[in-house]
Amino acid sequence: MFRITQIASEHVRAGLHSGSEPLDRYFHQQVSQDVRRRVTACFVAIASDQRIAGYYTLASASVLLHELPEEIGKKLPRYPSVPTVRMGRLAVDRTFKGQGLGGALLADALTRAARNEIAAYALVVDAKDEIAADFYRHHGFIALPNALLTLFLPLATIKSLNK
Ligand SMILES: CC(C)(COP(=O)(O)OP(=O)(O)OC[C@H]1O[C@@H](n2cnc3c(N)ncnc32)[C@H](O)[C@@H]1OP(=O)(O)O)[C@@H](O)C(=O)NCCC(=O)NCCS
Repeated sequence: MFRITQIASEHVRAGLHSGSEPLDRYFHQQVSQDVRRRVTACFVAIASDQRIAGYYTLASASVLLHELPEEIGKKLPRYPSVPTVRMGRLAVDRTFKGQGLGGALLADALTRAARNEIAAYALVVDAKDEIAADFYRHHGFIALPNALLTLFLPLATIKSLNK
């Protein structure tokens, strides 16, 4: 029903309306420039009528070891930080909500991050509010103890699914 692909210049970005003004504005006005400068990658879901039904962004990041829950951090090497992939934004157009697309975009991001040859410990997400944080918790993400709207999912979990 949807094809997920890297954003390209022929994609018409103006038609996406997720209900979140900052996420829409970023997608309409800023994302192409960020992709050109390699500060983010962006993937879009294309519906059968070629409309953009949703998008997410991915970039390299890191988390300080002491920011992770203690029981997880103590099992990791004693470096100051661990490498991660950050999904800074995720949005689904209003007309496509509740059809499994948000979950499919999240699964696509996890698969890309887990298959990357450059190691990352986890996919980290920035939830814009408590409702978005619930969406990520529903998919198994764990909140950072001191930043509850930043959540992570260790990628080793995903790799085992792909073996
Ligand atoms: C959050 C968002 C991406 C979800 O997309 P969606 O396509 O409507 O969600 P899906 O239909 O794929 O839902 C997948 C699963 O998540 C669950 N879910 C959806 N939103 C949820 C929420 N806020 N809290 C808990 N669970 C949620 C669904 O019930 C479904 O569960 P199931 O697989 O067990 O049946 C979408 O509502 C959106 O774009 N919101 C505005 C922007 C936003 O909040 N982005 C989040 C990151 S900042």
